[in-house]
Amino acid sequence: MIERIVVLGGKGGVGKSSISAATAVALSDLLPDKKFLLISFDMAHNLSDLFACDIGDKLTPLTKNLWAIEPDPDVYAREYTDLFAKKMRSLLKKMPIVGLIPQIKTFIDTTFTADSIPLALKNAMFFQKILDAEDLNAQGVQFDVIVADFPPTANMVALFDIPEDQVKVVLKYSLNFYNSIKNALKGVSKMFQKMFHPFEQEGKRVSIGDEIVKMLNDLEQRGERISNLIHDVGSLRLVTIAEKPSFEEIKRARDLTEKYISLDAVHINMITPKAKKCDFCNNMRSIQLNYVEDIINEFNKTKIWQSIRLKEEPIGLEGLRNLAREIYGDVGAKEVLYPKP
Ligand SMILES: Nc1ncnc2c1ncn2[C@@H]1O[C@H](COP(=O)(O)OP(=O)(O)OP(=O)(O)O)[C@@H](O)[C@H]1O
Ligand SMILES: [Mg+2]
Repeated sequence: MIERIVVLGGKGGVGKSSISAATAVALSDLLPDKKFLLISFDMAHNLSDLFACDIGDKLTPLTKNLWAIEPDPDVYAREYTDLFAKKMRSLLKKMPIVGLIPQIKTFIDTTFTADSIPLALKNAMFFQKILDAEDLNAQGVQFDVIVADFPPTANMVALFDIPEDQVKVVLKYSLNFYNSIKNALKGVSKMFQKMFHPFEQEGKRVSIGDEIVKMLNDLEQRGERISNLIHDVGSLRLVTIAEKPSFEEIKRARDLTEKYISLDAVHINMITPKAKKCDFCNNMRSIQLNYVEDIINEFNKTKIWQSIRLKEEPIGLEGLRNLAREIYGDVGAKEVLYPKP
């Protein structure tokens, strides 16, 4: 059972990946009996760089109880969309009119392919499949906590949004496809009746239409399961630096995500530390501290974690532990998992 899904979001370059990784490492140190998975949902994966090792599209152990993965959305979506496209093709070809117009067969074969399925849908399938963790669990590890490094805001919202809507997306896509050849096709409504009322044919052998309906039902159920999971155990933390653009971005992100996941904390990262002999640094720091105040006021019901810009880039397990110490000090795992304002 997944107890917690910690999601890190925010503008590009503010430290989402570093803080995700540092949080996963710190939690796995604090709770040695629990199993942790760090996942990158950013298409431009960089966990490998942060841990200075090769992670990629396979479950990679980093410590005794921490694994990481940088999944390839195409691999996860292809399985499903290949099958769906194949079934749609053979369903279409069974329509009586298609036999009369041979060109339509070619049109169907070349138009309705896995590649033609919208990218947004592929990403949604990939997101769900990963969070479902069935495949990962099948590899023998049951994760208690997932830490997810998310892409910048727009793509982040798309990941949350589509699980609820993907059946509609598939249907719309299929319908558009139908519409594009509808002039040549007769009896479409009859075909759809069959597709969407599979039980009328109960007792008879399962038709391709029934299988497609089953695929859509499964997809819908998985979407619901994932939406509920994110709603129940998801915990969003927005990362910002003490500057206007990224502050504005986390305000937008808060508004866009509030219906999907609870916002539990804001990280203000890379604050310039106090310097004895650097007027430039101190000037920059005082500008940043004004933003820190604004951010604290704006998010006054949310836990705020502040972290300075470290002298050394937080890379490798030790570097990430160092960043985690800077962020969390010595608060316990409970506070990190369930932050209170
Ligand atoms: N507190 C910090 N002190 C010093 N360097 C930091 C700190 N936080 C992050 N960095 C460095 O800043 C750079 C950007 O961080 P990171 O890759 O985590 O950001 P990101 O938000 O994930 O970026 P992207 O949007 O490109 O994925 C990295 O080189 C990282 O090592
Ligand atoms: Mg990143």
